[in-house]
Amino acid sequence: MESSGVLAGGLHTKHILSPPYNNPTTLLFPTSTQRLFSPSSLKLHNQLSLTHSATRSVAATASSTARETIELADICWDDLGFGLVDTDYMYYMKCSSGGSFSKGELRRFGKIELSPSAGVLNYGQGVVDDGGKFDAKDAAEEVLVVVVLKVLSVVMMIVYGQGLFEGLKAYRREGDSILLFRPEENALRMRMGAERMCMPSPTADQFVEAVKLTVLANKRWVPPQGKGSLYIRPLLMGSGAVLGLAPAPEYTFLIYVSPVGNYFKEGLAPINLVVENEFHRAAPGGTGGIKTIGNYASVLKAQSAAKAKGYSDVLYLDSVQKRYLEEVSSCNVFVVKGKTISTPAIKGTILPGITRKSIIDVARTQGFQVEERLVAVEELLDADEVFCTGTAVVVSPVGSITYLGKRISYGESGVGAVSQQLYSSLTSLQMGLTEDKMGWTMELK
Ligand code: COI
Repeated sequence: MESSGVLAGGLHTKHILSPPYNNPTTLLFPTSTQRLFSPSSLKLHNQLSLTHSATRSVAATASSTARETIELADICWDDLGFGLVDTDYMYYMKCSSGGSFSKGELRRFGKIELSPSAGVLNYGQGVVDDGGKFDAKDAAEEVLVVVVLKVLSVVMMIVYGQGLFEGLKAYRREGDSILLFRPEENALRMRMGAERMCMPSPTADQFVEAVKLTVLANKRWVPPQGKGSLYIRPLLMGSGAVLGLAPAPEYTFLIYVSPVGNYFKEGLAPINLVVENEFHRAAPGGTGGIKTIGNYASVLKAQSAAKAKGYSDVLYLDSVQKRYLEEVSSCNVFVVKGKTISTPAIKGTILPGITRKSIIDVARTQGFQVEERLVAVEELLDADEVFCTGTAVVVSPVGSITYLGKRISYGESGVGAVSQQLYSSLTSLQMGLTEDKMGWTMELK
């Protein structure tokens, strides 16, 4: 059924609604996952109103408004890590090749159906395969074919499939409104990545509206203030079936959410990194600068080896000279020396992180000189502090970095003053604890 909807706080939507969503009561209290809906002592009061229309082109003809008590989900909010918690709803929108995205809908969170031949599972795009060959993996082939493209150079890139993902967060603010942080930046980055991967993508407006709708439908999963955030994971994938190497004939845009706490098990304590010399995350001309899924599959080997040795994660070097810092598996890196903060410049192999960009602006307003440039690995020896940034990791102080067997320590027991200052400034802004003079937050009610 096609609907034009208004969700709590006057958020206007035009989306197809799957059956459970058409009933506000069902939205709040679906029955299939009883565990998730048991009463909680924590209650939040919200006005929820939905307006439905018979067709997309016709304005709303009927409306229902219900005053509801939205309870926080009944989970232990003190124990959140960075793992998936099943929530109530996900957003789903399709597009055929050559077409455009339309008619998105909220669906109950759950499994999706994909052809074994879906583009996202079979072929990556955007890397020149110069005489390489494909090696599909054994039993997992039925559901997931990892395409290994061996480029005739020192570089080895593993491409996972025709897919992109994004990550952004929603925070509960005092007074019970919810803040999104720079969602339009994620929308634009997904569009940029889609262009590189020969995929159609939702418009920035569609993206942001879909994020708002998904967050509001899962409002009870936004952690209480100070307990974490709601991580929002938009995906764009070639879902249509292909056998020969070509763009998929159909694409799916999907958003799911999960409440999360700290990314690293260390929490906010400094993490310990190891510089990787053999494997590289990205190569010039490749896809390191976009958020394609294959970039993340390719770091798992080095990351697993590092974790087995007790490190928190891996710091990658450039694949050509093996001398300049690139990024950590899941985040960007910054090096502090006095009042100067340096970070690798965005040059195609580095992900243009939204937290990275925000921290650069925050640091500049606080009087730091921020340099985006080539940062040589030797500079780590001389640095006062090192920290990482990312949506998931936020600002994560680095306690030590091991390079060629030598451990460089940055005060492993405590958070550096600059890292702490930037962390506090950014998170207070994201959580609505300080005035947002940057205009970066978007309030949902
Ligand atoms: C994020 O920080 O949102 C990311 O996408 C990184 C991911 C590996 C958790």
